Amino acid sequence: MCGIVGILGKDEAAPILLKALRQLEYRGYDSAGIATIDEGRLRRRRAEGKLANLSESLARDPVAGKTGIGHTRWATHGKPSEENAHPHQVGPVSIVHNGIIENYRELRAELTSAGSTFQTETDTEAVAQLCARFLRDGLSPVDAATKTVDRLRGSYALCFLFEGEEDLIVGACHGSALVIGHGVGEMFVASDTLALATRTNRVSYLEDGDIAIVTRVGVTVLDSKRKQADRPRRIASVDASTTDKGHFRHYMLKEIHEQPTLLARSFEHYSKSIQLIGDKQADRIDYSIVDRIVLSGCGTAFYACLVARYWFERLAGIPVDLDLASEFRYREPPLSDRSIAFFVSQSGETADTLSALRYAKKTVSKTVAVVNVEESSLARESDVVLSILAGREISVASTKAFACQMATLVWQAIDAGRQRNTLEADGFREIVMALQFLPGLVSQVLDLESRIAVISREFATSSGALFIGRGMMFPIALEGALKLKELSYIHAEGYAGGELKHGPISLVDEKMPVVVIAPTDSLFEKTYSNMQEVLARGGKTLLITDSTGAAMSDIGCWHTLVLPEVHPVLAPILYTIPVQLLAYHTAATKGTDVDQPRNLAKSVTVE
Ligand code: M6R
Repeated sequence: MCGIVGILGKDEAAPILLKALRQLEYRGYDSAGIATIDEGRLRRRRAEGKLANLSESLARDPVAGKTGIGHTRWATHGKPSEENAHPHQVGPVSIVHNGIIENYRELRAELTSAGSTFQTETDTEAVAQLCARFLRDGLSPVDAATKTVDRLRGSYALCFLFEGEEDLIVGACHGSALVIGHGVGEMFVASDTLALATRTNRVSYLEDGDIAIVTRVGVTVLDSKRKQADRPRRIASVDASTTDKGHFRHYMLKEIHEQPTLLARSFEHYSKSIQLIGDKQADRIDYSIVDRIVLSGCGTAFYACLVARYWFERLAGIPVDLDLASEFRYREPPLSDRSIAFFVSQSGETADTLSALRYAKKTVSKTVAVVNVEESSLARESDVVLSILAGREISVASTKAFACQMATLVWQAIDAGRQRNTLEADGFREIVMALQFLPGLVSQVLDLESRIAVISREFATSSGALFIGRGMMFPIALEGALKLKELSYIHAEGYAGGELKHGPISLVDEKMPVVVIAPTDSLFEKTYSNMQEVLARGGKTLLITDSTGAAMSDIGCWHTLVLPEVHPVLAPILYTIPVQLLAYHTAATKGTDVDQPRNLAKSVTVE
């Protein structure tokens, strides 16, 4: 799972490749590398770790050449070392790869017995070795690349660069996206449009199985049957503005603080498209004849689906099928042709979510992408695109995207409820009004930050934590635990409050903080009892509630955070803010790499 880029340029390639890789670093930061062609010879620089290390290496030892390829890696096969970093070079060919070559063992064995010597632990080297063999057999670069690709199984986006060929890059993709950028007198290939945004916004997307023969004058595309194909050009609307952190120490904190503005923007957009303009809106969905809703996503996006399940079932009376995208297609659920399937993803490039979409597409009546990146593969392959309007999210931990995913989905649920008459006009208006006031309430919660920072300093000394919530607060407990572990490396688990007594309560002692997320809704008393069970066993609880809940639970909590009262339907959005701040400040106290935690990538483009 990596980012790749290729350039046939007018200027020196190395600085342009570095800029493009900076935009792709969200796909992985285990190592980075580039290869160029200088006076007909392949030149290569690679470095373990973040792109900054490659930048330093290039500053010490530059490479020349106007044609080149680049890569930023999230390690799958082989540890994150310089040796395993891309580009992989064998004789006269250098390649970069995103994806997983599933038959690499078979290819490796075949090539080894034919005399090839492998230098790395990666699946990708098999591609370079195979192509080098075909070149040795006398095939032209294009034929060698094509014949290589025809032997591969798995998912791949590839760029091939050949010694002596300053005006050629061969691109190929299957199951991983690849986009061609059309500049003036220069051409590009990349994993996504973001990588190209500083050079061109004129792009064409390759389709599964395509091979692209790219030169400075244009591109020839061969489809999976190796027939010449036309891939239309479009104007990409990507925002590559080099967003800075402003006065914030980390992008994550900045993104947490953007939430009031973004929720107001979401309100502005969806209140118009759903209430006023009605059926004429392209993103308005007809829920009248829907018999089921399918919701799927990964990680934080999946938790947004979990929240939305309550909304669709309760407000619109529509049964919901819900699964992790990574499980969905392998479970092979029978789907109804009267169902609508929602796929939720910040990046729109998550491989598991894309696979789930492709599975559902065969049966359901409509697929809906709930995405932040409108140019993404998920958006392009779905029938309807609902933009969450969160702006670019840079921090690997998803915060503002989660809030905006929920805000987008609640509009769908109330719209569905109105269309199906399961939600009265008054109830609808109440929720709309609450949505209008939500940004102000989120600002009030952000005002609790210094208090949360103090609590976090104590939290940072723990080796584990539990988060509990019931009903719509259960997904927020899961999200709180995920945020804490991914940022601070403290082991944390989220549980439905009622589950505590079925096992996890044995973990409770005076050292284990238990975060209890409990607005005073219909389930408050039940959660309150679960908190009592923890306190009775000497546990320490951080209660997150409202003033009514705080007044009712004056019983020796370790800490209590009092949030403003909020419409119960919107409580998941508001109660997310303190758990984000808790995770952020705990990680900041521990001094971990908040924006790029170890072992992670922003977008997971392999299964
Ligand atoms: O881009 P996506 O929303 O599809 O990404 C899904 C997950 O990989 C993502 O939410 C992940 O869990 C985040 N690191 C959570 O902070």
